[in-house]
Amino acid sequence: MNNITLPVRFNPSTPQQYDIIIGNNILKNPDKYLSPLLARAKVAIVTDEHVAAFQLEPFTNSLKEAGINFDTIIIPAGEESKKFKTLEMILSKLLAFGIERRDAVIALGGGVVGDITGFACSMLRRGCQFIQAPTTILAQVDSSVGGKTAINSTQGKNLIGAFYQPRAVFTDIDTLSTLPQRERRAGYAEIVKYGLLGDREFFEWLEKHGKDVLALEVQSISYAVRRSCEMKAQIVEADERENGKRALLNLGHTFGHALEGAYGFSSKLIHGEGVSIGMVLAFEYAAAHQQCPHSDVTLVKDHLQSVGCPTEITDIVDHHHLSADRLMELMMQDKKVEDGNLTLILPNAIGNAVIKKDIPTSSVHAFWKQHLTT
Ligand code: NAD
Ligand code: GLY
Repeated sequence: MNNITLPVRFNPSTPQQYDIIIGNNILKNPDKYLSPLLARAKVAIVTDEHVAAFQLEPFTNSLKEAGINFDTIIIPAGEESKKFKTLEMILSKLLAFGIERRDAVIALGGGVVGDITGFACSMLRRGCQFIQAPTTILAQVDSSVGGKTAINSTQGKNLIGAFYQPRAVFTDIDTLSTLPQRERRAGYAEIVKYGLLGDREFFEWLEKHGKDVLALEVQSISYAVRRSCEMKAQIVEADERENGKRALLNLGHTFGHALEGAYGFSSKLIHGEGVSIGMVLAFEYAAAHQQCPHSDVTLVKDHLQSVGCPTEITDIVDHHHLSADRLMELMMQDKKVEDGNLTLILPNAIGNAVIKKDIPTSSVHAFWKQHLTT
């Protein structure tokens, strides 16, 4: 299969133009894909300890063959790394390696590595070159595209960060072969999100091919990643700073983030799992308010369940500890809260989500209560 080049083009007068390359053997061919972007034959790689165990050596072997010098920073795996201490460590090491503004730093890993590395790049010498090499489904279809970078704080997730676009995204499907099933399913939920928010036909394609996507059957995973990236690129090109339609990408996230927060963003409920349950909750909330047909709620739930994604609060371990009060408190930290009112992304139907402002907190509180007692 030929690799695909998907352009991301903001306003033509800005320098923020880049390509997403999707396909096979991308990281094995730095001569073809990486070298043309480099000012000199020197890069830094940031990765995490799991990705390093599986993906780092093949990549660095290819860099050696291509005559590209590299230094490597390995951070602990997991959400816990998205904090000031790790950021400081990355920045100090990049400075010690002598990474200059025109040099490239490559984020080899999932959304955690991508988010913190991008943020570090936005600050290093007021901005160095940043290349995304996503190795999870979630990062390939979502976090590597669009330039959101961040770390977490005690107040909540991704609250400290910057918009900083990469110079390129190398989406090498081959790297997914070592990704655990649970992580594959979590990323798959973000793929379903694109069908639900704006492309019913894509959702129907996923109903037929979802299991092939998860099995990494090459045509299926490539198409799913490509369609997701096309949709994400189209949205972020139109609204880079999330002043409007980019918020659609948060379908299921306001409910999901609250659930993730209630588990301290731990491995008890990983991001894509929170999104999977959150999307079902958004459909149920919309249906309960006569905005969306109940039959679509059933289709969404059935599909997610058929591929093993969680769809109910009761699918989460220790769910008895959850309370509507705590979930509301977490929800009110959402970045889309305005004047103390919630904004939710809610579906009119599968393939047609809209941004709804001024959602009464009392109705969401009652909705949580109902879900926690059934
Ligand atoms: P992650 O980066 O923690 O990766 C998940 C797990 O898979 C980790 O243990 C990692 O070490 C491991 N892993 C990664 N690639 C692997 C591979 N090829 N083989 C084996 N193991 C591998 O999590 P994620 O799900 O990729 O990303 C979640 C993060 O992304 C969250 O912090 C979320 O906030 C962020 N995010 C950001 C955006 C954005 O637009 N910037 C969008 C969505 C999510
Ligand atoms: N994942 C949401 C966004 O990139 O806007």
